[in-house]
Amino acid sequence: MEFHFSERMLTLKPSVIREILKSVTPDMIAFAAGNPSTDTFPIDEMGEIANGLFADKGRIAGILQYGVSEGYQPLRQLCFDRMRGKYQTGGEQDELIITSGGQQAIDLMSKAMLDPGDTVIVEGPSFIGSLNTFRTYQAHLAAVPMQSDGMDLDALEHSLKTEKNVKFIYIISTFQNPSGYTTSLEKRRAILELARKYDVLILEDSPYFELRYEGEYVPNLKSLDTEGRVLFAGSYSKILSAGIRLGYAIGHRDLIAKLVIGKQATDVHTNLFFQVVAAEYMSRYDLDAHIEKARGIYREKRDLMLRCLEEKLPQDVTFSRPQGGLFVWMELPAGSDGKALAALTVEQKVSIVPGNCFMVDDEKVNPGVRLNYSMPSKEQIERGTDILAACIRKYLGR
Ligand SMILES: Cc1ncc(COP(=O)(O)O)c(C=O)c1O
Repeated sequence: MEFHFSERMLTLKPSVIREILKSVTPDMIAFAAGNPSTDTFPIDEMGEIANGLFADKGRIAGILQYGVSEGYQPLRQLCFDRMRGKYQTGGEQDELIITSGGQQAIDLMSKAMLDPGDTVIVEGPSFIGSLNTFRTYQAHLAAVPMQSDGMDLDALEHSLKTEKNVKFIYIISTFQNPSGYTTSLEKRRAILELARKYDVLILEDSPYFELRYEGEYVPNLKSLDTEGRVLFAGSYSKILSAGIRLGYAIGHRDLIAKLVIGKQATDVHTNLFFQVVAAEYMSRYDLDAHIEKARGIYREKRDLMLRCLEEKLPQDVTFSRPQGGLFVWMELPAGSDGKALAALTVEQKVSIVPGNCFMVDDEKVNPGVRLNYSMPSKEQIERGTDILAACIRKYLGR
């Protein structure tokens, strides 16, 4: 059988990270993963809620029925109240839709806005899942180099001036995946101003902003937005659990209305059972206290990872020092190839993701590597960084 696939699928490659993870065996140390730690999932509480729902025959029948595309109303309300009250994210003109993970918010925004050939300006490096989503809508991707405090603004303005049909700027504003960088408040303001000047939208993707281990909260770009120019994509994956596939988008009501129509044609609505479980969780338990506990777990691991890298890596290998999130971005000396290093570490049973995977032009040699510290145990971080450092020395011929 010969399949004549659509053009949009022909340009798409399988996620390199998913491919790397497929080859990860249980005896391997996975610095390549991006998963949250299962130690942070409120399993007992969710179990109690689920059992209670199934014990109530009248209620569970309704929960196992179709729901509305906008999302389970109590969850929408709880989520929106929390985002508006605690983070001033979302104004009078805004609405909220519950999505199947933050990933779907990115997909629905793309579906609503992108025609083939339209441009999306992205950070370089950026989240591979989103780059692939934009590619499926046959968008042209223009990468703006990422600095430790956010996009290079001159390069961003240059792209806004020269690229055709720019629909939106895609920015992972806090504890970026893969770099761990957070865009400064000054740059957030400047990016919003540039978006205004060139009349483009902003897609702010922020699944990690609540996982802050030190430093001051930087307001979401969405909370600086008075015109409805920003769509904020949020996620429960890193603060409750990833498999429940719950996320949300906050944006201008006219934009959200389009996302709702797009969602009807995709999956009708997000899994109603887990929407109810999440709403019950937020009503009965203290989500903030739960997040604080998760922060404690991740903070320890981040501290250990940074300490190990500090002690073990050669001086000319640099790495980011994220104040939150799940990732460290390491850079080998200029001209080095992260892919070649990854081949060496995999032989020694440590998986890492080479930096080229996160670039628009992923064929170009890149000296970066993404390291995750949420999945490996502390002992694995110790042992894995020993192996990583030895492989780096071997690669650099020292
Ligand atoms: C930057 C970024 N955006 C979006 C997502 C998607 O998250 P979700 O599980 O909510 O779909 C991820 C997941 O790793 C991510 O790193």
